Amino acid sequence: VSEVFESIATSLDNPLVVVTAAYRGHRAGCLVGFHTQTSIDPSRYCVWLSKANHTYLVATSVSHVGVHFLTAADHELAEVFGTRCSQTSDKFAGRTVSSGPGDAPLLEQCAHRIVLRRTALVDCGDHVALVGDIVDACGSEPFVALRLAQITDLDAGHDASTRASSADLRYT
Ligand SMILES: Cc1cc2nc3c(=O)[nH]c(=O)nc-3n(C[C@H](O)[C@H](O)[C@H](O)COP(=O)(O)O)c2cc1C
Repeated sequence: VSEVFESIATSLDNPLVVVTAAYRGHRAGCLVGFHTQTSIDPSRYCVWLSKANHTYLVATSVSHVGVHFLTAADHELAEVFGTRCSQTSDKFAGRTVSSGPGDAPLLEQCAHRIVLRRTALVDCGDHVALVGDIVDACGSEPFVALRLAQITDLDAGHDASTRASSADLRYT
């Protein structure tokens, strides 16, 4: 079953986003392939964060997160945010970062982005669904999304099966 589903998921070829959050000035972010709009009115979006990721700890400790929609030119961003850990590596170094609603760190190099104010957290297994109201958005011009098929050379920084210990479930 899992192999068949994997081949279906490969054909779906999800677009990729980078999710960011900051807690008391400490910034974290990771590459995310699990994400979608969940409501039209109110306007809501959902990202699924792996419990193994440092970004999960930071994002679930604050009210707002940034969601950056990557374009076909953003392979470098996908490599940095998808293969390293924010606890040991400053993924924001050398980039222009602004502070969005709720202190969500926003990568200025990404023209297409939204900010979510969290409305729900749902345990889905090794990932947690973070649902939020879309409280800010920029970049209305069309773009070509970076998709999974373009980054098959990258290995995730954390295996989703490596769960954060329960003691680490909040960054606080
Ligand atoms: C193609 C690809 C898709 C990924 N999708 C997700 C995802 O949907 N959710 C998630 O939490 N992590 C996902 N990851 C894993 C994180 O981006 C990766 O483990 C990252 O290094 C975690 O960084 P952090 O520890 O700073 O949060 C994906 C990684 C890759 C390479």
